[in-house]
Amino acid sequence: MAMVCLLDFEAYAEKYLPKIAWDFFAAGADECSTRDENILAYKRIRFRPRMLRDVSMLDTRTKILGTEISFPVGIAPTGFHQLACPDGEKSTARAAKAMGTCYIASTYSTCSLEEIAAAAPGGFRWFQLYIHRNRAVSRQLVQQAEALGFQGLVLTADLPYTGKRRNDVRNGFQLPPHMKLKNLEGAFEYGLPPNSLDPSVTWDDIYWLRSLTHLPIIIKGILTKEDAELAVRHGVQGIIVSNHGGRQLDGAPATIDALVEVVEAVRGRVEVYLDGGIRKGSDVLKALALGAKCVFIGRPALWGLAYKVSKERGGQQKEGGVCPPLLCPCEALPEVRPSILERRDIVEVAPKEGQEDDLRLEYISCEERLREVD
Ligand code: FNR
Repeated sequence: MAMVCLLDFEAYAEKYLPKIAWDFFAAGADECSTRDENILAYKRIRFRPRMLRDVSMLDTRTKILGTEISFPVGIAPTGFHQLACPDGEKSTARAAKAMGTCYIASTYSTCSLEEIAAAAPGGFRWFQLYIHRNRAVSRQLVQQAEALGFQGLVLTADLPYTGKRRNDVRNGFQLPPHMKLKNLEGAFEYGLPPNSLDPSVTWDDIYWLRSLTHLPIIIKGILTKEDAELAVRHGVQGIIVSNHGGRQLDGAPATIDALVEVVEAVRGRVEVYLDGGIRKGSDVLKALALGAKCVFIGRPALWGLAYKVSKERGGQQKEGGVCPPLLCPCEALPEVRPSILERRDIVEVAPKEGQEDDLRLEYISCEERLREVD
């Protein structure tokens, strides 16, 4: 089977991963409505393609917090990569380096920060932090990441408690005994205790983090203008608009829908990124047009790891060309503006007189609103 799009890798991973691992990667919270909405929301946004604009020279490079990446897609932090591939996060680090992009390594990695750094020396990496009740553990991880050359600290703000992922509960999901949360080994005598994360974290803890490290702080999990304003006021350098891939609060908005509000509130004071539901080059283009500096992918990187393993074991799959959205004429990323988009939302409109029972659904164009941030 030729692998021509990320959905092919998803289908492949579903077929070949053990069910318990597949279910863990695929999970969303509760009814998975936010997880699914992350993807559906892109389909409501259409392009206004412009023609005859000399696109013979194309440049997908951009910079995030001053460091150049070869294209505006990085790897979001996800835990437990050894569930997909024995080399785990070491493979992910090598792949990100080979692609010239940023890899955010999770606190819950199955390889240690040292192993990740050694696997891809000189790679561009940020470290994602969950703050534990035992603050000494978190402090030590932050300082270790900085010493190992990680270039940013990503604080995940949307997981005071873990969302209810129904299949994980049904499967009694836990890491197989031969896999360890290497960054936390030794910190907890009897393995990671339940409820080890600190649910009392507040905005003031950004100041605590600031006192521990010189690294730029990026906050992940912001979905509203109010929190975007607080993030800027508390001195973060970047915001990742994220709903944790729909794994936390079911009913939270799709990230592409929350992006405009955050970008408007931030008014260019810090960089804004997005993750959640990015599956095609055209999704990337839409997020950039609405103000994201770059996007990150979570699950697709895990599918890639699963595919890599099977290829190494002699799988016969062919890879087809992955086609970036070059049909929407933009020579370089700074040219990507909201005016290349229009959005069609289904809205409820008031019934006409005499037709009160006739609830009508109509499409309206929201392109004016999208253009406001142009
Ligand atoms: C995650 N995510 C996540 N986020 C984080 O800050 N720390 C973590 O350890 C994890 N772990 C994790 C595991 C798995 C299996 C998934 C699917 C997700 C959330 C992740 O960073 C990101 O927000 C979403 O994955 C983005 O959505 P997509 O790209 O998976 O649709």
